[in-house]
Amino acid sequence: MERKKFLRTLGAGAAFAIAFPCIGACSKDNNSEEGNTPVPSGVDFTVDLASTEGEKLAENGSFIRKNLVIVAKNLEGEFVAASQVCSHQGYDEVEFSGQNGGIFYCGVHGSRFEQNGTPTNQVDTQPAKALKVFKTEVSGNILRVFE
Ligand code: FES
Repeated sequence: MERKKFLRTLGAGAAFAIAFPCIGACSKDNNSEEGNTPVPSGVDFTVDLASTEGEKLAENGSFIRKNLVIVAKNLEGEFVAASQVCSHQGYDEVEFSGQNGGIFYCGVHGSRFEQNGTPTNQVDTQPAKALKVFKTEVSGNILRVFE
């Protein structure tokens, strides 16, 4: 390849890299930073309660994150599950909290939800929207989380 042609090719690639520095690899990070993470759908998975993962649910009030779902053992010892993606602005920061008898909580702007997904406060001036919740059932040591 001629030197001039090589430099011309390199120049176009460098310009592309400068103009589009975030294609592919960091698009997911951008979504996470700005919210807008899609709410999980088609959820149907299991957790082996005897596994290392499942043992984290041994205590009442504990929770794990899996497939963008918060799986929690509420304060009464029942398993509940909800979207990790907040209904406010789509940040995947929802967690389970022992406050007020056990709620889902998003620390980004402070949204709180009952265990059935009903919002209990209003953030900004946006109308509060329900948090998507999932069904749970236990068979032996297997916890199933599904829609
Ligand atoms: S994104 Fe959760 S409170 Fe705003």
